[in-house]
Amino acid sequence: MTNAQKWVLIIFVIFIGLLAVGRLTKNSGEDVTENSYMGNGQQQEELDGMALIQKAGCTSCHGSALKGTSLAPSLFAAKEYWSRDKLINYLRNPSSYSGDSRFEKYKEIYRTIMPAFNNIDVKQLGIIADYLLQLEKE
Ligand code: HEC
Repeated sequence: MTNAQKWVLIIFVIFIGLLAVGRLTKNSGEDVTENSYMGNGQQQEELDGMALIQKAGCTSCHGSALKGTSLAPSLFAAKEYWSRDKLINYLRNPSSYSGDSRFEKYKEIYRTIMPAFNNIDVKQLGIIADYLLQLEKE
């Protein structure tokens, strides 16, 4: 083997080595993003629920953590009072439940009234309802 041939061989080996390293680091990079995407579907859904709730402005009356303010009650008891369907119905038309004794009491305590959210897509109300129904009372 001549000197020139040796150099060509060395450069070739280095080139292949770099290619392999490039492949490996690229693959591990892909794995990381894939994992963070697929990682926690549950958390993703909760975030969507809360994001919708914030977007709809519920927090301005019910509080940033939905634990109630002087304007509106805590939503942490939703699970005790509502089925999913009824809750969606309520959000679309709260006044139809105003005869309920719980709501009679609310009327005395809070100076605002719960607005009707029939302008929000029912599917999104479903996501909001799911979020409210999984809140655990402390
Ligand atoms: C303008 C203030 C206000 C806003 C905004 C508001 N609420 Fe209310 N909400 C109230 C009040 C006041 C009540 C008490 C019942 C009533 O007066 O109708 C209530 C009651 C409720 C209840 C029933 C609580 C129970 O004890 O069963 C739920 C559930 C609820 N709100 C969810 C929401 C959601 C979800 C949003 C956003 C999409 C929202 N509210 C936005 C004021 C508000």
